[in-house]
Amino acid sequence: MTLQPTPAAKKRILSGAKPTADSLHLGNYIGAVRNWVDMQAEYDAVFFIPDLHAITVDFDPSELAKRTRIVAAQYIAAGIDPDKSIFFVQSHVPEHAQLAWALNCITGFGEASRMTQFKDKTQKSGADTATLGLFAYPTLMAADILLYRTDLVPVGEDQRQHLELTRNLAQRFNTKFGDTFTVPEATILKESAKIYDLQNPSAKMSKTGESPNGAIQLLEDPKIAAKRIKSAVTDAGTEIRFDPEEKPGVSNLLTIYSSLTGKPVADLEAEYEGKMYGHLKVDLAEVVVDFVTPLRNRTNELMADPAELDRLLALGAERAREIASVTMAQVYERMGFLPSHSLAGVR
Ligand code: TYM
Repeated sequence: MTLQPTPAAKKRILSGAKPTADSLHLGNYIGAVRNWVDMQAEYDAVFFIPDLHAITVDFDPSELAKRTRIVAAQYIAAGIDPDKSIFFVQSHVPEHAQLAWALNCITGFGEASRMTQFKDKTQKSGADTATLGLFAYPTLMAADILLYRTDLVPVGEDQRQHLELTRNLAQRFNTKFGDTFTVPEATILKESAKIYDLQNPSAKMSKTGESPNGAIQLLEDPKIAAKRIKSAVTDAGTEIRFDPEEKPGVSNLLTIYSSLTGKPVADLEAEYEGKMYGHLKVDLAEVVVDFVTPLRNRTNELMADPAELDRLLALGAERAREIASVTMAQVYERMGFLPSHSLAGVR
């Protein structure tokens, strides 16, 4: 009998998008979710909804559960398959908060203070209103990643620094307490890593941008999406050319166009040679409407059956806890905590 070589274990990927608005936006989709869908066949995938991260900024408790379900529905509508991937809500797996605390205790105050997202957010709202939770956001994110011994983390460019911190914490823990964590790598796809605000193309498209017209919300009426593309800020001159320095507005539109159609940017430049910005916008508005309409319909169908969504999330949380609890037990043991015994065992 010849022995078959055992297939190499698949690498693990993990990622998530916060439920801080009534919908994910086009930047979340192009920069992150779309890549997750492409990767889930090849990797052992974990996708979760970081609701504990959503409460690090001002939030409405009467909206949180609904927004969490919306993100869940949007993942599935975009193509995440709960049969193939582990799919759950962060707060349903208490080990995330538990590991975050342990990591807080090996993170330097100065190190956390250097996180640019924290600095940006506190600059906007003032340091006095920032919470300890917002300050500790990156260590909770590190816990999310390290609990599952993740190899790759597909995210947009804005998460790069958090990934660097995660790597440092994994290495530090391993050196101090013994080899426990996989040191993960960020997977950031260059072409789509940052989609910019349609009204202010020097800022990233975000859930909390200055003008609502700057973002395409995936669940909004597609007519509004079309309007936002048509009224996007463009640049001086008339030439349609990819040049993020000189023409950030047009370049952003070309990136979105290319991402949604798969046409290379160079082909689009050739196609629109001699045409006006208006032509590009009208065509892109149509592309965006064709993309958001079925996604929105599917999301709304899924939202019409919240019990089924909750069932899928409960199954996912169970699978997640099987992995997370093993890692957490190891972490406590290596850190030297007194093991907790059940009373039955002590008697
Ligand atoms: P969040 O919810 O801000 O964003 C979700 C994903 O979307 C990407 N993204 C963008 N990509 C391109 N252009 C944009 N304008 C744009 N805006 C957002 C983000 O890079 C992200 O990949 N901290 C994470 C959530 C999180 C997480 C994790 C991610 C918590 N724990 C563990 C990975 C692993 C965040 O703020 O995502």
